Amino acid sequence: MAKILVTGGAGYIGSHTCLELLEQGYDVVVVDDLSNASLESLRRVEQLSGKSLVFHEVSLLDRDALRAVFKKEGELDAVIHFAAKKSVKESVENPLLYYQNNITGSLVLCEVMQEFGLSRIVFSSSATVYGTNGEMPLREGAQTGAVNPYGQTKLMMEQILKDVGGVNAWDVVLLRYFNPVGAHASGQIGEDPEYPFNLLPFVSQVAAGLREEVSIFGDDYDTEDGTGVRDYIHVVDLAKAHVQAIANILTKEFEGKSGSKGETLTYNLGTGRGYSVKEMIEAFRRISGKEVKAVVQPRREGDVAVSIADPTYSNEHLGWKAELGLDEMVRSAWKWQTQHPKGYRS
Ligand code: UD1
Repeated sequence: MAKILVTGGAGYIGSHTCLELLEQGYDVVVVDDLSNASLESLRRVEQLSGKSLVFHEVSLLDRDALRAVFKKEGELDAVIHFAAKKSVKESVENPLLYYQNNITGSLVLCEVMQEFGLSRIVFSSSATVYGTNGEMPLREGAQTGAVNPYGQTKLMMEQILKDVGGVNAWDVVLLRYFNPVGAHASGQIGEDPEYPFNLLPFVSQVAAGLREEVSIFGDDYDTEDGTGVRDYIHVVDLAKAHVQAIANILTKEFEGKSGSKGETLTYNLGTGRGYSVKEMIEAFRRISGKEVKAVVQPRREGDVAVSIADPTYSNEHLGWKAELGLDEMVRSAWKWQTQHPKGYRS
């Protein structure tokens, strides 16, 4: 079976993807510097799948260490590249850290891939590359534009991979995630943020009594109830999209679909359905049975009113469709929260 290198495999989306890969019979090699992840996630992935993976604690900024991994592992068939910093706020405060980590780290990865003749990569991109685009729902062809350094790193990496992939005849797949939420149905792996800047982890901690109240950032948007609307996507659906992308690039079919080698394929990973902040809080109240205190605050800087994917192209060409709905997203997030109130530290 094919051997897949997963950078950032111990993180939130990475760990769910590793589990899906192992369950589909792939061999998995994880490279992670554990800067925002726990090895415990991978221990649980092994437990849940009943299979083992190989782990290397390596930063992509350490070229020699990464080369040693490639040397030791022998033939690798493809890379899924998650490893990156992901806080918008932190990227605004410390752009150098973001460019260094997300761009330099990815460049080192590409150089080592080139050196060892590895030519297939699935990249973790984001709907943030659409910037403040007004067109809704968002097709892959919509205009892009970043509004903060984090978004810039995603946009730049997309371009770098197009250029490098084009000249080297690599198979490149760019996956643009909308708003990843939820956890594995077992409640054993999930999102473990140091501080919950995103809506669902925050609401989850309020429901659990760990925080007093959630702020609703603006109720005067031009939306049905005035609060921001997002296309939330279950992390297990996201994980499955990565495995499908890998299956596609490992088969001849990919060449047929892309027309020629060296062509980059870009897919939106969303459901095509949006929910408002108020709807998400209400769903959490309903499913947890807890009171979730919410207070309207001014808009958060940099937020758009609505962000919804048009998933038609991914449904037709990636061969993948989001299957899990709002209740599964919230139920799994709540299960993870109640079973592991302190994340992987408990
Ligand atoms: C954010 C990032 C985005 C990143 C994504 C990763 C910003 C501006 N955008 O997306 O670049 O790719 O996370 O998951 O940070 N909200 C509240 N109260 C809260 C938190 C959020 O009302 O405490 C609202 C927001 O205003 C928004 C919605 O909930 O309307 C979702 O917010 P969030 O979960 O932070 O995701 P995004 O901002 O869409």
